[in-house]
Amino acid sequence: MEGQNQVGRDHWKGRSSSWTATAAQGLSTDDTLNQMLIELTGIAPGERVLDLGSGTGDPAISIGLALGDSGAITACDLTPEMLAKARERSVNVGLDVISFAASEMTALTFENNTFDCVTCRFGLMFPEDKIAAAREALRVLKPGGRVGYVVWGPYGENPPFFVIRRAIAEAMGQEEGPVPHRHSLGQPRQLSEILDSAGFVSVEERDMRYKRPVDDLDDYINRALIRGYSETVDQFDDASRDALMDTLRAAFEPYREDGRVYMPNYARLGFGWKAV
Ligand SMILES: C[S@@+](CC[C@H](N)C(=O)[O-])C[C@H]1O[C@@H](n2cnc3c(N)ncnc32)[C@H](O)[C@@H]1O
Repeated sequence: MEGQNQVGRDHWKGRSSSWTATAAQGLSTDDTLNQMLIELTGIAPGERVLDLGSGTGDPAISIGLALGDSGAITACDLTPEMLAKARERSVNVGLDVISFAASEMTALTFENNTFDCVTCRFGLMFPEDKIAAAREALRVLKPGGRVGYVVWGPYGENPPFFVIRRAIAEAMGQEEGPVPHRHSLGQPRQLSEILDSAGFVSVEERDMRYKRPVDDLDDYINRALIRGYSETVDQFDDASRDALMDTLRAAFEPYREDGRVYMPNYARLGFGWKAV
């Protein structure tokens, strides 16, 4: 199973402590993309939804809240340590239409024709065989059901990632390195080619762009450092860490409008139907 994953179960297990440390306690601290996904996929009360690569619970928690008492959401992920945090968050928001399943998205443990909708936010980049993953989503969808995959757009159009990575590379005196894997499906047509190849019909792509208002820039930067760079930043002494914070505060200044920082985010949605 390990060989099927681009970055592997051990990688995600290793990252789960920094993800759970920075996750929301209840509803997402930035629910914008989750709400866009719910609207664009037309998720409605009473439906049965499967969320793949759910991690610490996004968008599963928000979908569960949108389904009301009559629907059902299954949060599914390769990494049980991530799902433990999703479960904690669901309890905190009083969500009882949610269930959890640890499963590899290329070999799902669900029956054929089970779900009205399958979602996946920032997960499809990771299985080695993305078409096999999309075929599995197709298999577990009911005829007439639909899938919505959200992936990050290009690296250079996502300042939350490149600003911090560049500053850390500079602080370490290193090259920035290749574009991170999370942006590997960010070009137009990449998602639709996967969905077409898997057998979905009426496939479309949409841009999901928004500016996230950031009230507490230091908190935003600290969370990003813990989530993505804790091993690196832990090596810094206090002075180097203070200098890095100063560099990052300055690097985010161009995104300040009328006194508040607004972080541009660019994701893409791939959407398709299972033929009736
Ligand atoms: C970038 S995180 C996204 C988590 C969440 N959906 C979010 O948007 O915050 C990617 C998640 O995909 C999971 N994952 C990676 N490869 C997977 C695979 N092959 N099958 C199922 N889940 C996988 C990881 O365990 C991780 O929780």
